[in-house]
Amino acid sequence: MDMSLFFALCWLVSTGKLLAQHTFDPLTYVDPLIGSSNGGNVFAGATLPYGMAKAVADTNSSSNQGGFTMDGSQVTGFSMMHDSGTGGNPSLGNFALFPYTDCAGGDVNRCVFPKRSRAEFGGFDSNTVVAKPGTFGITLDSGIQAKMTTTQHVSLFKFTFPPSADGGQSGQPLILQDLTDLSDSRQDNASVTVDPKTGRITGTARFLPSFGTGSFVLHFCTDFRGADILDSGVFVNSRASTAVKTLAISRSINGYPLPGGAFVRFRSGAGPILARTATSFISTARACQHAEKEIPEFNFTAVSDAATEAWRAKMRPIRVSTQGVNASMVTTFYSGIYRTMISPQNYTGENPLWSSSEPYFDSFYCIWDLFRSQLPFLTITDPTAVTAMIRSLIDTYRHVGWLPDCRMSLNKGFTQGGSNADVVLADAYVKGLNGGINWHDGYAAVVKDAEVEPYDWCCEGRGGLDSWKSVGYIPVQDFDHKGFGTMTRSISRTLEYAYNDFCISQMAARLGKTHDQHKYRESSGNWQNLFKDGLNSLWWNGTETGFQGFFQPRFRNKTWGYQDPLKCSNLDKSSVCALETSGAETFESSIWEYGFFVPHDQATLITLYGGPAAFTSRLAYLHAHNIAHIGNEPSFLTVFQHHYAARPGLSAVQSHRHIRAGFQPTRPGGLPGNDDSGAMGAFAALAMLGLFPNAGQDVYLITPPFFAHANITSPVTGRTARIVNANFDPAYRRVYIQSATLNGRAYTKSWVDHSFFTEGKELVLVLGSAESDWGTRVDDLPPSLGSYGGFEGGRGVTKRTGELEGWRGV
Ligand SMILES: *[C@@H]1O[C@H](CO)[C@@H](O)[C@H](O)[C@H]1NC(C)=O
Ligand SMILES: *[C@@H]1O[C@H](CO)[C@@H](O)[C@H](O)[C@H]1NC(C)=O
Ligand SMILES: *[C@@H]1O[C@H](CO)[C@@H](O)[C@H](O)[C@H]1NC(C)=O
Ligand SMILES: *[C@@H]1O[C@H](CO)[C@@H](O)[C@H](O)[C@H]1NC(C)=O
Ligand SMILES: *[C@@H]1O[C@H](CO)[C@@H](O)[C@H](O)[C@H]1NC(C)=O
Ligand SMILES: *[C@@H]1O[C@H](CO)[C@@H](O)[C@H](O)[C@H]1NC(C)=O
Ligand SMILES: *[C@@H]1O[C@H](CO)[C@@H](O)[C@H](O)[C@H]1NC(C)=O
Ligand SMILES: *[C@@H]1O[C@H](CO)[C@@H](O)[C@H](O)[C@H]1NC(C)=O
Repeated sequence: MDMSLFFALCWLVSTGKLLAQHTFDPLTYVDPLIGSSNGGNVFAGATLPYGMAKAVADTNSSSNQGGFTMDGSQVTGFSMMHDSGTGGNPSLGNFALFPYTDCAGGDVNRCVFPKRSRAEFGGFDSNTVVAKPGTFGITLDSGIQAKMTTTQHVSLFKFTFPPSADGGQSGQPLILQDLTDLSDSRQDNASVTVDPKTGRITGTARFLPSFGTGSFVLHFCTDFRGADILDSGVFVNSRASTAVKTLAISRSINGYPLPGGAFVRFRSGAGPILARTATSFISTARACQHAEKEIPEFNFTAVSDAATEAWRAKMRPIRVSTQGVNASMVTTFYSGIYRTMISPQNYTGENPLWSSSEPYFDSFYCIWDLFRSQLPFLTITDPTAVTAMIRSLIDTYRHVGWLPDCRMSLNKGFTQGGSNADVVLADAYVKGLNGGINWHDGYAAVVKDAEVEPYDWCCEGRGGLDSWKSVGYIPVQDFDHKGFGTMTRSISRTLEYAYNDFCISQMAARLGKTHDQHKYRESSGNWQNLFKDGLNSLWWNGTETGFQGFFQPRFRNKTWGYQDPLKCSNLDKSSVCALETSGAETFESSIWEYGFFVPHDQATLITLYGGPAAFTSRLAYLHAHNIAHIGNEPSFLTVFQHHYAARPGLSAVQSHRHIRAGFQPTRPGGLPGNDDSGAMGAFAALAMLGLFPNAGQDVYLITPPFFAHANITSPVTGRTARIVNANFDPAYRRVYIQSATLNGRAYTKSWVDHSFFTEGKELVLVLGSAESDWGTRVDDLPPSLGSYGGFEGGRGVTKRTGELEGWRGV
């Protein structure tokens, strides 16, 4: 080696330059086990970004929605499809494998087949669990070690068996494959066949989606490598036979589907046995094709290296300075980002419902959760994927008739509130996503939500459209003879429909549809019809909260109903607040918290709440008294809404408080609620990045990042956006922005738009330990439909009112 080059390298390494450039690997900060207990319900196993194959050990926990849990429960098998972070019933987890080192006395009937009873052999020490992006490993108390990795449709499992009980030699391992799923939803006439020569197992069964209507058929194809086949057969209930190679099985009249499946037994051999399983919604033949094409060589290292590299490539655009910062913060950040790319899942080429050249994504679970943080986050870091998802949503509208609010396992899921795919489309549209999206059809889809009531609005569109158009809100106990659904959530549906209409009006404006623009802008004000001036909110002990004027249920004849503003809040553990027929007029949240959900017109809301000072104290009270529930999505935007009342510093304080209290990288707890397919992870990542989106608008609210600086490279334009904290304090005592520059010029607005990312701008924030008047003038406030009034005397606010610029085009 040339010595001058050598010395130059030494200098670079010693000054840390080379080291920093080449050793920073975001994957070292990803812990997939965060949220695998305590209700996070995350999928902790092996998958590619948006992959269909998701391999993990499933447990018999009552909280096994994502398959694996680290909460003291037992492993029941290793299955290859999952959802992540969801509530509802456990999702997927079909066709689990389960290994035994031996069947006692060489008798297959002395191995235990049914899922419930074999859990006894699924104990494990949580210290043996190794989860990394792209791989998952665990050692059962039986001594069997299982490692798994995946490609897009195929899972590769590597089972290593301990020496058998009779000393030294390995036994005759048996691996079974079960025709069931996590929630025991298998329907009639499942079938399985094992080829005695090759050991290939193929099968098909019909299952139910975990939070929706209908059913779906799934096929699989499994091959083994690593040991010679001794024999094979099928099992039914707890009995097995090597004489029978094929089985068609009933669900049976009992709730628990009859256990059934196939198995392969292997000759003694010391080496590991590899099991390669592919699934397909098309056919067993298609599953086998996937398997042969994607993992031809059964090379575990090659597959896991490729999976790891796929994740590294996805994380690469986001680089934060770790200097001085508690590593747990970095782990919370990158682990949150990791979880945003587990679902939605790319089922392109795997949709048997219609034929199309458009992409097909599934596991939008649910858009009520995803629209606020996850999809906006991906719009920054992976716009190509979001573009494909939008095309898929629009194609679903083309073929099913409606945009989904929730969709899983090829079926319609239940709508939780508004037609929030409208927000998703508007968000992508105003941020300039293109890439082959047919915006003409996209616009037709959102207009259909606003104009046509579905017969069953359980699962698409909106209910109560006649009332919406005649009285201007969703009445409690509405009369609706055109469409049918659960007649609850009248307040939250009204608030969400109003925002959905605003999103449509923005699209209309940019598409030059002036009539529609005005029409939907008008109805986006319908939220005001449920505001009841003067109404008090009392604590359970009768003490006044001190705030007046709340949203309330209203009958169709305009008479007010009543719902305690604290009902269904974080503090209310007794009310029924989800989709039950006895549910409340707000969905999974209180009137207190929903009372801030007017994302498009904070100025008018501030006026209704008595001006900026009263708004600020109400918002602070919501958080200080734990009325807000950071473990559920409606709270997300409220953390940052102080920006609209000219107190951006309070948003920063609130954000720090929630991230520190709610998001601990302690595994396996560490999340304040269901991750909801990455919505919670995206919330943490965006909060820590310091740019929180008001989803559906081209607006990001600025707070200081939790790091000295952050670099985000747009994968589309290749430009790098930078946010720098000057005077950064890793102990977070200095979280107040004193002044800022954008591309070197003084910047006083408390928000930026999406061009910040696509054009790669640089925002430098100067921090201090006290609130300043940065971002407090009316001209600095984020856009609002109504005009800001009553700001006289507010901190640092110099202008009284002012029609804001912004809403370019509206
Ligand atoms: C899980 O399986 C173990 C072992 O069979 C059993 O003791 C435990 O009760 C099961 N847990 C649940 C929630 O069914
Ligand atoms: C299941 O198979 C049986 C026997 O072939 C048939 O009679 C029955 O109709 C099938 N049921 C369904 C739901 O396909
Ligand atoms: C498996 O893949 C790894 C990594 O690509 C490679 O180094 C190794 O040679 C492969 N092994 C076999 C047996 O082909
Ligand atoms: C961010 O970008 C700047 C400017 O290119 C560079 O100096 C810094 O090292 C980058 N930070 C990280 C964490 O990559
Ligand atoms: C880092 O954060 C963790 C988790 O919040 C905490 O337990 C630990 O004490 C912190 N370490 C330091 C050096 O502050
Ligand atoms: C989705 O999957 C298809 C087929 O496997 C692939 O061609 C496409 O690139 C994937 N799309 C994204 C956004 O990952
Ligand atoms: C009533 O409850 C609220 C909220 O917990 C509390 O702040 C207040 O002090 C209580 N009042 C009395 C009189 O106990
Ligand atoms: C309006 O309807 C509600 C619910 O049916 C009823 O209780 C109330 O008396 C009605 N008000 C008027 C003024 O008719």
